[in-house]
Amino acid sequence: MNHDDNNTQAVQLTGEEIAKHNSKDSCWVIIHGKAYDVTEFLPEHPGGPKIILKYAGKDATEEYAPIHPPDTLDKFLDKSKHLGEVNMKTVAKEEKEFDPEEEDRQQRIKEMPILEQCYNLMDFEAVAKRVMKKTAWAYYSSAADDELTLRENHSAFHKIWFRPRILHDVEHIDASTTMLGTKVSIPFYVTATALGKLGNPEGEVVLTRGAKKHDVIQMIPTLASCSFDEIVDAKEGDQVQWLQLYVNKNRDITKRIIEHAEKRGCKGLFITVDAPQLGRREKDMRSKFSDVGSNVQNTGGDNVDRSQGAARAISSFIDPSLSWKDIPWFKSVTKMPILLKGVQRVEDVIRAMTIGVDGVVLSNHGGRQLDTARSGIEILAEVMPEIRKFGLQDRLETFEIYIDGGIRRATDIIKALCLGAKGVGIGRPFLYAMSAYGLPGVDRAMQLLKDEFEMNMRLIGCNSVDQLGPEFVDTRGLSMHTTGVPVDTLGMGVYDPLVGPTPRPSKL
Ligand code: LAC
Repeated sequence: MNHDDNNTQAVQLTGEEIAKHNSKDSCWVIIHGKAYDVTEFLPEHPGGPKIILKYAGKDATEEYAPIHPPDTLDKFLDKSKHLGEVNMKTVAKEEKEFDPEEEDRQQRIKEMPILEQCYNLMDFEAVAKRVMKKTAWAYYSSAADDELTLRENHSAFHKIWFRPRILHDVEHIDASTTMLGTKVSIPFYVTATALGKLGNPEGEVVLTRGAKKHDVIQMIPTLASCSFDEIVDAKEGDQVQWLQLYVNKNRDITKRIIEHAEKRGCKGLFITVDAPQLGRREKDMRSKFSDVGSNVQNTGGDNVDRSQGAARAISSFIDPSLSWKDIPWFKSVTKMPILLKGVQRVEDVIRAMTIGVDGVVLSNHGGRQLDTARSGIEILAEVMPEIRKFGLQDRLETFEIYIDGGIRRATDIIKALCLGAKGVGIGRPFLYAMSAYGLPGVDRAMQLLKDEFEMNMRLIGCNSVDQLGPEFVDTRGLSMHTTGVPVDTLGMGVYDPLVGPTPRPSKL
């Protein structure tokens, strides 16, 4: 059956008709009130065929929406497979299977601490861990391999100690700064993180609203759950957004994305350079396994679930051949400042300066890519003296250096600024705040950081960010990966340790 765009209004498919196509030989699904024939697409689905077959002949919207940007079907499924509108009144409501895990989660939601009980960013993480769906928590919290870099990102800040100055008049504190020419109220931005609807049904627009309220910049992720336009439409007034770009193998698509972002007012293009292939995040993979594992017998397939977790499933378009050779092309297609996100050594910072991009983010992708990659803050401490050694410090007027990864306290932000960063990106903490408490959570998380920032500036003896410098920190322990630090009890309390495989249920 084939309906073109003109007659979709006239012909409405019924739930009964769709329900007949419930096998791998003929597989139709309903998404957002429309039917799609995905039979031929089954073997190509990056998340594996089984998860689709679970919804064969049924409404798959609830499972589909959080992990696919709204334009996915238009992009990846041939128009001839778009079957048209469904009369949703005729679609039988699925009886939800009793799920003891979900019952427990609902109970934990009822017992959630009130927002005012969250005093720091780790508190949001602790609440989110208890109330988020297991698969969503696994996707957000997971990191590569043994998750050493994930933990190092945070603990690296504990290896830097302050050298505060005393008897400096700190009555007035100004936390504001500029980022790529935009004035912001405090030196952090909301960095790009994928799949916002896993944590909150409204997705990334919640972060847009939080960023507006606190006068900070939001970096829009390529792999958002909301469409790019929805996120831009959610901004207000002169609010500034940047675009994080995963480069598509098809450069025409990449070009269209960049041009569209520029047209819609984005003020910076951050090209991700640390992810030619997405890392192995075993928590994510394992949670995906149990999600579809229960249906294995019904699918007629083999017993091996090839699902690689949400991360791999959504990222197969990323071009692993991206190289320095491509940078002039990016410069030719946009006037937005271009920054490389995921730079991890001084040689590459210098090369980025030489090739004429506008900055870098020293980042290891939240520990989600190369495990045992060093923390952004450690790289920063290595990079800045080298820039001075090469006499390139004047270039920092126009070349901005940011870091991200592991930032949970305003002292972490201040340390990064002392070492020469223009600002820092914060990702997961705002996702956790949003997942647990929605916009009020994001609002409180940002406000807590602002309050901490003001107090700590005072305690260090600085009135404004331009006064911060390397003389306020002792970094001698930073590159010693063996340095002992006091146990981070809050961090360890929320860290979700990796576990081995769970036994399979015995056959009935
Ligand atoms: C991730 C990608 C999608 O880290 O940025 O999961």
